[in-house]
Amino acid sequence: MAGPREKWNSRLGFIMATVGSAIGLGNIWRFPTAVGQSGGGVFLFIYLLIILIIGIPLMIGELTIGRRGQSNIVNVFKKIKPTRPWWLIGVLGVVTGLIILSFYSVIAGWSLSYIYKFSSGLFRTAEAAQAEEIFSSFVSHPWLPLFWQMLFIILTAAIVIKGIRRGIEKASTTLMPLMFILLFLLLFRSLTLEGAVTGLWWFLKPDLSAVNLGIILGALGQVFFSLSLGMGAIITYGSYLSRDDNIPESSFIISSLDLGIAVLAGLIIIPAVFAFDLEPGTGPPLIFITLPLVFAAIPAGDLFGALFFLLLSIAALTSAISILEVVVATFKDIFQQTRKKSSVIAAFLVFLLGVPSSLSMGILDDFLLLGFPFLEFVDFLSAIILLPLIGLLTALFLGWVWTPEKSLVEIEQHGVKFKLWKPWSIILKYILPLALAYILISGIAA
Ligand code: PHE
Repeated sequence: MAGPREKWNSRLGFIMATVGSAIGLGNIWRFPTAVGQSGGGVFLFIYLLIILIIGIPLMIGELTIGRRGQSNIVNVFKKIKPTRPWWLIGVLGVVTGLIILSFYSVIAGWSLSYIYKFSSGLFRTAEAAQAEEIFSSFVSHPWLPLFWQMLFIILTAAIVIKGIRRGIEKASTTLMPLMFILLFLLLFRSLTLEGAVTGLWWFLKPDLSAVNLGIILGALGQVFFSLSLGMGAIITYGSYLSRDDNIPESSFIISSLDLGIAVLAGLIIIPAVFAFDLEPGTGPPLIFITLPLVFAAIPAGDLFGALFFLLLSIAALTSAISILEVVVATFKDIFQQTRKKSSVIAAFLVFLLGVPSSLSMGILDDFLLLGFPFLEFVDFLSAIILLPLIGLLTALFLGWVWTPEKSLVEIEQHGVKFKLWKPWSIILKYILPLALAYILISGIAA
C-alpha cells in the first residue's frame, strides 16, 4: 500500500540491521566450511582481497542505488533509468532471494533443533560415530527437519510483518549485541583448548602456491553471499536510509564487521577441530557433526553447544529477515497488497521451495543435479552464479548507465565527502566488470 516510505530510526539502527543481514549462516556455517574445504589460510587471503576490490565498492554502489530510488528493487532501477529494462536486475534479485531463503531456512531449522538437542543433553557423551548418527538420522527424517524449517520461517515472517522500525530495526538492535557477547565467550573457550595452536596457524597462514581458480571462485561467491550483495538486500536497506548518512563510511563499517565475525567464527571452529584431531574438510555438516564432538568433550559442553546454536540461529534470523524483506517490499508494491499479506505469501513460497532441499538429505538423496544433492546445488547456483551475475549487471549499471558522476551527487548530499570517488569509479567501470566476467566465465567453464 502506498504511503510515506518507512525510514530507519537512527544510524545505529541502520548499521545494526545491515550488519545483521550480512552476518549469518554465511559467516558461521558457510565460511568455516569453505575454509576447511579449500585448505586454510589461502582462502582467507583471497577472500580479503575480494572484499576490498569487489565487496566494499559494490556495497557503496548498492546502498546509493537504494537511497536514490527509494523503492523496492524492481522500481529503483525503473526510477533511475525509466527507458531501459534494467529493472530486470530487480526481478532476478527477487527470484534469487526466494531460492536462497529456501535452503537457508533448512539449515537455520537444523540450527534451531540443535539448541533443543543440546539443552536436552543428547550430545553429553557423543562419540564420533554417534554425532554423525544423530545428525544423519535427524536430517533424513521425513518431516522433523521440515517442522524446524517452518518454525524458522514463521519467526522470520513475524518480524518482517511488523515493519522496518518496530520489526527489523528493533530485532536487530537487541539480537546483534547478544550475538557478539556469545561469540567472544566461545572464542575464549576454543582458544584455550590444548592443541588449538595448530589449527590457528592452518587457518591464518596463507600458502599462496595453493591458489587456483576453484578457490578464487569459491571466495568470490562467499563474499557476495556473506555481504548480502547481488540480491537486493543492501539496495532495499539503502532505500530506507535518510539523505544524511555517510554511505562509504557505513559500507566500510558493515563490511569490516562482517569480515571480523567470519574470522572470529573461523577462530572458534578451526582450532577446536584441530585440537580434537578431526577433519576440517567435511563440507556442510562440519559444524553439525564436528563441533558437537568438541562440545561433548569439554566441561559444560551442553551449555556451550546450546549457546553456539542459539548464536547461529540469531545470526541466521537477522539475515533471513533481510532476504524476506526484499521479496515482501517488492510484492507489496507490485501487487498492491498489505505488508502482512505479502509476508505470509512470501513465507509460504519459501517453505514450498525449501522442501526439496530439506528432503535432499533423506528421501531425495539419490536425486542429483550436476552431481550435487539438491541443497548443495541451490547453494552453488545462488552463491556462485546468480549473486555474482547480478553483481556484474549492477556494476555495469552503476559504471556505464547511471554513471559514477551521478552516484557522486547522491553520495555527497548534505556535505558528505567521498574522497575515494576516483578509484571507486575506476573499479566500478573497469575492474569490477572485467574481474567478475572473467571469474564467472572461466570458473563455470572449468
Ligand atoms: N549474508 C547472509 C549470511 O551471511 C546471507 C544473505 C545473502 C543475506 C544474501 C541477504 C542476501 O548469512
